[in-house]
Amino acid sequence: MDNVVPFFTKDGSVGLYNKKEDDIYHSVYGALTEAYDKFIIPANFDAFFDENNEIKILDLCYGIGYNTKVFLNNLLKKYLNEEKHINSIDSDNVIANKNIYSIDNDNILLDKCINSLYNNKIFKKYFRKSNIKNNLIKKQKFKVYIDAVDTNKNLVKMSPFFKVAGDIKINKRLSGIDKIDKYLKDDFYPSEHFDLLSEVNMLILSFLINNFASEYVDDELSEILNDKKYSKFIDSKMKAFLGFYFRKHSNLYSNKIKCSFLHNIYYSYISNSYKNTLKVLENNEISINYIIEDARQFLSKSNLEYDFIFLDAFSPSKCPSLWTYDFIKLLYKNLSENGKILTYTNSSAVRNAFLKNNFFIEKIYNKSEERYTGLIAAKQSKIVNPNLSKYELGLLDTKSGIMYRDENLLLNNKEILENRKKELLNSNLMSSTKYIKNFKGDKNEI
Ligand SMILES: C[S@@+](CC[C@H](N)C(=O)[O-])C[C@H]1O[C@@H](n2cnc3c(N)ncnc32)[C@H](O)[C@@H]1O
Repeated sequence: MDNVVPFFTKDGSVGLYNKKEDDIYHSVYGALTEAYDKFIIPANFDAFFDENNEIKILDLCYGIGYNTKVFLNNLLKKYLNEEKHINSIDSDNVIANKNIYSIDNDNILLDKCINSLYNNKIFKKYFRKSNIKNNLIKKQKFKVYIDAVDTNKNLVKMSPFFKVAGDIKINKRLSGIDKIDKYLKDDFYPSEHFDLLSEVNMLILSFLINNFASEYVDDELSEILNDKKYSKFIDSKMKAFLGFYFRKHSNLYSNKIKCSFLHNIYYSYISNSYKNTLKVLENNEISINYIIEDARQFLSKSNLEYDFIFLDAFSPSKCPSLWTYDFIKLLYKNLSENGKILTYTNSSAVRNAFLKNNFFIEKIYNKSEERYTGLIAAKQSKIVNPNLSKYELGLLDTKSGIMYRDENLLLNNKEILENRKKELLNSNLMSSTKYIKNFKGDKNEI
């Protein structure tokens, strides 16, 4: 994490900048807003959930998890709103009293803790539904399965701790990195802070603890969480909870971790957010599986077919290994017949790699930015609206359309870039500059 510098983006969420790579992880205009605009809106999950209640998502390059977070945020908001409605129908079952459940936390044993959790009045009230409630709840149940892949373990572990600042005044946001401050000073949307439910970070933390078990809090994570450089970017409540949890139950095994996690959240903070987290976990099946591995190796071994794949690697010129013809072939193998891949790049080399792998692709138009900000790829033309213009398709046959290659999925980024450079030098294709200059006609005509 030494090379990673945090800063507040324009929607109050924390963005990261990598000093060594001189590259940003998140857009300065708003890290969470970017996830919403580029991944969540174009995916059109509402349409998916109209027909399905089970979803498999692959979050490639999870980083600090904004794409997963915004997905869960939308899902939970909808779910909790519906729950609110149900609770108002059956007011006898509404949980209002903060003091209903009280045990002496200092003297409690784990098993007793879990038993009392499941026998307590709050749980009974939540799960003893009236008939009306039962019917509605049945309809609402969803199953969410997320595989989150990244090579950077520390970033992944840190993901639930980054806060969203309520105060997004410009003088507080400046990062000290010239390149970023230049953009932060621009009067460019958004001007409102992103409304991220605290339940989302609670859920994420619960799955991280389940995944990493006793290895979750190691020296490195403790060091990062206590590093002054990060303190203003960290949600102190989440950090306090972690301390509480691990001091008490560091020797837990995974199944019980969830129960005691929930118990502790409830007991420590007794707030609606934590009750909501309980409700969501108990009424629905959600799982997040964290994979700390090179995405190429992970996908080579996997036979799972995902409904949605988020591809959020660094740009093709910095991290070509995740934009090659050969990697995109793996994505084809791991996408369901009706599935969608979402990504942010407009690179001709990448568009070409998708098309050469028999994908249909659609450019994503962002109304606020008034430009195309990425693409959706699918195996079937009916899933997307193939909308590359004649001009853009022609560009793919110039030098800029030359794909990145990594046949055995083992080359490093430098090698892939060097190989492409050689291919460019030896190619007889027209340069893109010449093509652009000579192109006659409407650039947007399909
Ligand atoms: C642009 S950032 C992703 C930001 C992220 N989606 C978020 O919400 O924070 C790119 C991420 O790709 C990860 N990465 C780089 N090479 C990778 C590889 N070969 N396999 C998996 N992840 C990789 C980096 O560790 C980094 O976290």
